[in-house]
Amino acid sequence: MTAGMVIIGGGECGARAAFALRENGYAGPVTLIGAEKHLPYERPPLSKDAMISPEHPLARTIAGEDRFAEQDIRFVAGTTAIGIDQEAKDVIFAGGKRLAYDRLLLVTGAVPRPLPLAAASRHCTCLRSYDDALVIRAHLQPGARIVIVGGGFIGLELAASARQRGAVVTVLETQARILMRGVPEEIAGVIAARHRQEGVLIRCGVAIAAITDRETSVTMTLADGEKLEADLAVIGIGAVPVTALAEAAGLETANGILVNAHLQTSDPDIFAAGDCCAFPLALYGGRQVRLEAWRNAQEQGTLAARNMLGLCEPHLAVPWFWSDQYELGLQVAGLADEGARTIRRDLGDGAFILFHLAADGRLVAASGIGPGSSVARDIRLAEMLIARSACPDQAHLAAPDIKLKSLLAA
Ligand code: APR
Repeated sequence: MTAGMVIIGGGECGARAAFALRENGYAGPVTLIGAEKHLPYERPPLSKDAMISPEHPLARTIAGEDRFAEQDIRFVAGTTAIGIDQEAKDVIFAGGKRLAYDRLLLVTGAVPRPLPLAAASRHCTCLRSYDDALVIRAHLQPGARIVIVGGGFIGLELAASARQRGAVVTVLETQARILMRGVPEEIAGVIAARHRQEGVLIRCGVAIAAITDRETSVTMTLADGEKLEADLAVIGIGAVPVTALAEAAGLETANGILVNAHLQTSDPDIFAAGDCCAFPLALYGGRQVRLEAWRNAQEQGTLAARNMLGLCEPHLAVPWFWSDQYELGLQVAGLADEGARTIRRDLGDGAFILFHLAADGRLVAASGIGPGSSVARDIRLAEMLIARSACPDQAHLAAPDIKLKSLLAA
């Protein structure tokens, strides 16, 4: 009898992989193990809709129990694997219970980077899970003082949501500007201005020296001695990949579980995908990257499933992520930091796209911002150009009346 496929990690990536195994014709046992007590759900709404919806937000599950049953996928909730016995091909659980696998997929995700100063505070929290979101949401009352530590995606999306709920919001960022990770300054500037217009106080270049709990509030003392009082502080200072299980098993890790282009770890029967893995991107000369992005989790979940079945397909997708704050939609395709020069295309209504070109003229990334989904179509076309390693004419990129589609045809 076949031991089957075991997937450790009950997030978006793990759930997609489980269903993809079935979609690709696998008929053996499939077990999906999740540490949380909920069915796999989507995380992107947690900082947005789940914070501002007038009614109590439900977790947006990827599939209901009925679909798991219908597809004969065993979902084990609230369970953490504590070891892997590669010799026996067993996953080990607390109490010594074991589960055999033919192929194993690690989709353990990432956890919020801890801020040691905040560890003992009852009024500091992070946002990663649906349960975290409910805790934060309960604090977002008109006039509530919310301090957000970290001007990255989580911090800023949450700042926008908190303002929409009438809270008084301050963002503390250590770097000289917000969104240093992967977002060009010109676009970060638009976002910062929009937050300021809403009354969010964004303070860059500040460091927290102490965090002191009061009865119902918390005092954040900055390095220069200034004190800020908050009813709740949310720490959003980045995410770290969950690699402990892989490390204990002796799998290679370095800012994530190292995998090849087929998402295979240093043990050919163990795969890894999503936020927890670092993989080579052929498009950027095999540069090792770890992508914390929703679409990447979906794509890699599906790809890992296919490769667990022996299809041996490389990961070729262009990185893509988005962020919604107020009415603004930000999208980035490719890796902007690979660019040597930037060409701007204005789309009207304040929307614009930046094309990032390598020194040899190759389009390596495109980033855009505008109301709603105004940049979506052009970013999608840019993504296709990036995938082809195209070297578009720079004057054409800058001219809004020249359709990107025509550059694709060229
Ligand atoms: N104090 C203040 N700011 C800090 C500190 C600190 N001690 N340490 C880091 N920061 C700042 C960083 O400079 C950065 O601007 O926190 C920000 C973290 O931003 P991200 O790296 O974007 O991480 P985060 O916003 O926490 O998001 C974590 O969740 O939704 C996903 O895509 C998102 O993968 C990301 C993850």
